[in-house]
Amino acid sequence: MNKFYGIGVGVGDSSMLTLKAIDTLKKLDVVILPEAKIGEGSTAYTIASKYLKENVARVFLEFTMAKNEETRKISREKNTTIIEEYLKDGKNVGFLTIGDPMVYSTYSYILQHLNEKYTVETVCGIPTFIDMASMLNIPLTLGNESLKIISLNKNIDIEKEIKNSDNIVFMKVSRNFNELKRALETTNNMNNIVMVSNCGKENQKIYWDIEDIQEEDVEYFTTLILKTRGISEWKKFSL
Ligand SMILES: C[S@@+](CC[C@H](N)C(=O)[O-])C[C@H]1O[C@@H](n2cnc3c(N)ncnc32)[C@H](O)[C@@H]1O
Repeated sequence: MNKFYGIGVGVGDSSMLTLKAIDTLKKLDVVILPEAKIGEGSTAYTIASKYLKENVARVFLEFTMAKNEETRKISREKNTTIIEEYLKDGKNVGFLTIGDPMVYSTYSYILQHLNEKYTVETVCGIPTFIDMASMLNIPLTLGNESLKIISLNKNIDIEKEIKNSDNIVFMKVSRNFNELKRALETTNNMNNIVMVSNCGKENQKIYWDIEDIQEEDVEYFTTLILKTRGISEWKKFSL
């Protein structure tokens, strides 16, 4: 029976795919490539392309990032209908996601709208913060420590989030970098962070000090890890 697959392909390094992801990619008749704007290109496709069948149909779908929630919902529903057409046709359809499909991914919205008569299989991938922590040889959690994941936006009270937290992963940091920096300063945490842009890619950059970094210089593919109990002891095996 044909299926709708959500496949996590890791965040940049094409050797960071699971064997299951590679096997699944080889089965696909149609590959769905989400883009924020048509023509923008797809990181997930760049990572996965070498594993796809030569004759796989590549379908780029625009998922608008418009501020209006209703506009975004309409765009997701429209794209789900397109996916359902391929499934009705008996095709194996795969939706590629950078990192993991269950971590801040458009794939989850497709699952919200997709008719329950279709069969779904999700293949996990390595999310950004797991890739980063291993690449830097820095533990994310130890003993009784907690870990919080925050997708940054303008409405978050960052200082409040930092208080009483052991470890925080800040994703989408380019959206409100100045506020994040201010909250790190106010809570005395400027020396307890590491930030990575384009993790696993050729243009990867690692920042232990963000004092001189301005919001306009922070790229979309940037994640920051805060360890409020201190990070310096873990730097010895880091890049
Ligand atoms: C829509 S979310 C995708 C999350 C992804 N599903 C995951 O499992 O990590 C996009 C955010 O993921 C992070 N991200 C994705 N790729 C990255 C990379 N190569 N380096 C650093 N951060 C990355 C950034 O915080 C970016 O704003």
